[in-house]
Amino acid sequence: MREIINGERFVMGTCYYPEHWDRALWEEDLERMLGNGIEVIRIAEFAWNKIEPEEGRYTYEFFDSFLELAHRKGMKVIFCTPTATPPVWLTEKYPEVLNADQDGLLYRHGARRHYNYNSPVYLELSRNIVEKSASHYGGHPAVIGWQIDNEVNCELDEFYSESDTIAFRHFLQKRYGSVEELNQAWGTVFWNQTYNNWEEIYVPRKTAHNTNNPHHMLDYFRFVSDSARRFVRMQSEIIRKYCKKEDFITTNGIFGNLDNHEMRTESLDFITYDSYPNFAYCLDDYKAEDPIKDRKWSRNLAETRAISPLFGIMEQQSGANGWTTRMEAPTPRPGQITLWTMQSIAHGADFISYFRWRTCTVGTEMYWHGILDYSGRDNRRLREVGEIARKMERMKEIAGARCEAKVGILKDYDNLWDARHDRWHGRVEETSQKSLFTALQLTHTPFDYVYINDHTNWEELRKYDLLFYPHAVILTEERVKLLEKYVSEGGKLVMGCRTGYKDIYGRCVMDKLPGKAAALTGTDIPEYSFVAPDDGKVMADWDGTKVEAAVFNDLLEPAGENAEVLASYTSSYYAGTPALIRNRYGKGETYYFGGAFAVDTAKAFLEKLGAGTPYGGWLALPECCELAVREKEGKKYLFVLNYASEAVKAEVKAEMFDFFEDQKVCGEVELGTYEVKIFVN
Ligand code: GAL
Repeated sequence: MREIINGERFVMGTCYYPEHWDRALWEEDLERMLGNGIEVIRIAEFAWNKIEPEEGRYTYEFFDSFLELAHRKGMKVIFCTPTATPPVWLTEKYPEVLNADQDGLLYRHGARRHYNYNSPVYLELSRNIVEKSASHYGGHPAVIGWQIDNEVNCELDEFYSESDTIAFRHFLQKRYGSVEELNQAWGTVFWNQTYNNWEEIYVPRKTAHNTNNPHHMLDYFRFVSDSARRFVRMQSEIIRKYCKKEDFITTNGIFGNLDNHEMRTESLDFITYDSYPNFAYCLDDYKAEDPIKDRKWSRNLAETRAISPLFGIMEQQSGANGWTTRMEAPTPRPGQITLWTMQSIAHGADFISYFRWRTCTVGTEMYWHGILDYSGRDNRRLREVGEIARKMERMKEIAGARCEAKVGILKDYDNLWDARHDRWHGRVEETSQKSLFTALQLTHTPFDYVYINDHTNWEELRKYDLLFYPHAVILTEERVKLLEKYVSEGGKLVMGCRTGYKDIYGRCVMDKLPGKAAALTGTDIPEYSFVAPDDGKVMADWDGTKVEAAVFNDLLEPAGENAEVLASYTSSYYAGTPALIRNRYGKGETYYFGGAFAVDTAKAFLEKLGAGTPYGGWLALPECCELAVREKEGKKYLFVLNYASEAVKAEVKAEMFDFFEDQKVCGEVELGTYEVKIFVN
């Protein structure tokens, strides 16, 4: 059986860097970890030199002796491949392995992730180091699993080396077959961009105002994702040859220009996430009026859960954040390590590994604190970690429980990447995603992100009563068919402005809008506009409720006998024009809303469509508390997390069991500062 994420119990770990410390500290460190409930360590992700100090010379002594000690002490180990930090001997001898900026300037040795995924030399040398590590350590009894690289596409998620251009051409040849096809797809007739042969095509290069062809950009992001996935798959296939059958393969973090879902399916047993909610208190980013702050990490955790329903946290924050070059965030206050750990667990994490055991005394991350400070003395944070271990032991029965949600937000990578380069698309998407998340949080409505592609089937959607697909700008025939099936079988679907105006290449369609979604939405859009700054907030009236149609407005007309107008604009020159149309379609309903969603608008949809506050009959919670629900064998575990720095009151409306107090509760309850309660029903 797999040692972590096995449905049996929660497991605690930490990130350890034996190469950062005198060997004399190892044994005591491992003993203290074990004494505080830490059973797993992750090692070696930046330690290429410790195995191959010069090209072709391998030395295993360092990790052999460390693993031998770990095994003797009973510590389990996640071993990493070290490809995130190529050694200096490598980059000096083969500069073509380096990534470059858009001007072609190479990113040099001295930081990390300075390589590219397409250099044949780097692929060869990476294959080699992974082969050497996996064949040597794969059978080791202390090793329980593998992490590939570290944070794929973190730091840089754009690649402009010469190898990338060559690989990009191959990618495009495979996709289009001929330059003529590519010219069509990219609309190169515009501004005289027509290509005559493949050699004229590059990864996006510097242009005035960074105004690159949008179709070129969209394919480039797809290409980056493909390159990263291929790199991870190459490593995964090697590790599989050597690792023990029960050992797992993962990687950590979710970053841009990467189809994490495909990467998971083809290469990983599950994904792990690196969770640093204290960024909400980073001096550069802090906004006092933001009601969400560290709860925003629940959004990232929901994204992680969309990749693996049960996942791990490879790096859970345990100290102050900061590099010497950027970021300043405070030390977690008493109770916050517990709060953020429970936040991860509430969203589906069954493995929690803290970053890091000791704070490094050298290098860029000297201020990125771990559990222990520089001296290594026992401290408050270590005591809190020990407390959490005891709680996790008590929570055993919850391990493996699945998160419950009746509301989903549909997403797809084509639109995600299109929105990245397209400002109009980007603005509506960003506004709606933020608002929907905030509204769902504040109304205590658990939700899932649901990623679709042309192969998604209806079974994956039918468990949701309500789906938002805020701005499906790019729509394909297959995806519309899927949505039609979902709605006709009784689902409720909400779509926002700008739906269906682009094809898969990111070109605008000449259909009447909302294009392929016209029949499903019973909507016609004769006209549209950005919200003009001198219009202020454009509002619509929905049965007496005022809702904002933010950023962009489609001016709607109902089409077909099942379509009815539910709300109309009340401001601008289009006051009186329909802003929301409901279309009855089969057994279900589609709602087409003419704007992007503001927080109150999203709340109105949740309330009027009967999807908000689904546990309201059981619990009445203040806004500062989050609710997340895990379910196992008919038992529901309701996690209530108090993010406020003060005690708050909540009401248990139907008698439930207070998990930590070990007693039944009903009526008013108090949650202390940062306290987390689990109610069982
Ligand atoms: C993560 C990374 C770690 C460490 C940490 C603190 O992004 O995986 O290696 O760098 O952040 O910066």
